[in-house]
Amino acid sequence: MKTRRLDASRRRLIRHGIDVGGALLATAAFARPLKAAATEPSSAAPANETLKTIHGLRTIHGDFSERVVPDETIQLVVGASVRAANASAMQSYSIVVVKDGATIHKLTGYRGSCLLLYCLDYTRVFDAAAHLGYRFPGANLESFVTGSTNTILAAQTAVIAAKSLGVDSLLTNGVHRGDMQRVWDTLGLPEQYCFPLIALVLGYAAKEPAYMKGRLSGPGVVHFGKYHRLSKTDLDEIVRQHDDKSRHLGLVEDWDQKGHKHYLDWLYKDWLRAPSAQGPQPAPAESQISKFMRKSGFVEEQKS
Ligand SMILES: Cc1cc2nc3c(=O)[nH]c(=O)nc-3n(C[C@H](O)[C@H](O)[C@H](O)COP(=O)(O)O)c2cc1C
Repeated sequence: MKTRRLDASRRRLIRHGIDVGGALLATAAFARPLKAAATEPSSAAPANETLKTIHGLRTIHGDFSERVVPDETIQLVVGASVRAANASAMQSYSIVVVKDGATIHKLTGYRGSCLLLYCLDYTRVFDAAAHLGYRFPGANLESFVTGSTNTILAAQTAVIAAKSLGVDSLLTNGVHRGDMQRVWDTLGLPEQYCFPLIALVLGYAAKEPAYMKGRLSGPGVVHFGKYHRLSKTDLDEIVRQHDDKSRHLGLVEDWDQKGHKHYLDWLYKDWLRAPSAQGPQPAPAESQISKFMRKSGFVEEQKS
């Protein structure tokens, strides 16, 4: 039941660096021909149930069956989600639970049993302040960064909790595609200080994916002692690792059939539409996301 996948607006979002949550997911095998440090990420078989659950995470790109996730299970997932770490004990997010299939589809472009929409949200904090006669010092970029961190940690905790209960999930920023105002209008989100950050669709896989995707977890991703910028040799190795189809590191597998020498050529040219380093640099266009960040009060209005 998947719908749009590699569509243009998702590409645009990623190009603008909005695909934030992916960085949280780095886990398994990236073998560099170096002696492994004692603390180097291990690709050995997971040693306990928690690690098995985490290593068992894999996307099904919204290919859910019709099976419904029971309410008690949703409650367990949400209950675990709010246990995630949060700054200043303020839980600056809210989670909108949606079980209507048509609404889930309208908001995300996907179909599933239940949607947990994770909003970065200071409304409760503002309202409680006003209730006691205070004015919360304000939403700004700093609170956006801190609040986003709280929100994403809660969302990823839900992903793990769901998987531990046998429930599959899809993290999607489909809410940022199309006219984003529909998210506020459909769910009655407060116009200010509330920003839908990531959607988590829950359900059960219609079928298992053919393979597990790989991850980088070596040089360039994990740094020991201090930051090590990659050398030319390291970068050649990164290119080679992505070209090694047995590692399943990339977003697509048929990049060579599309006429590219390397997977990363496909990524930069076709997916990210990156201009050549030598050519003229196009003027940056303002994204819908930054417009809504201004509208919701996290970024100052531009003075014309
Ligand atoms: C911020 C974010 C947005 C994503 N949006 C989509 C999406 O719209 N559609 C989709 O199929 N997968 C989406 N994903 C899931 C990733 O594509 C998925 O994690 C990736 O394919 C890795 O797959 P794996 O978990 O099986 O290794 C998103 C993930 C993140 C973190």
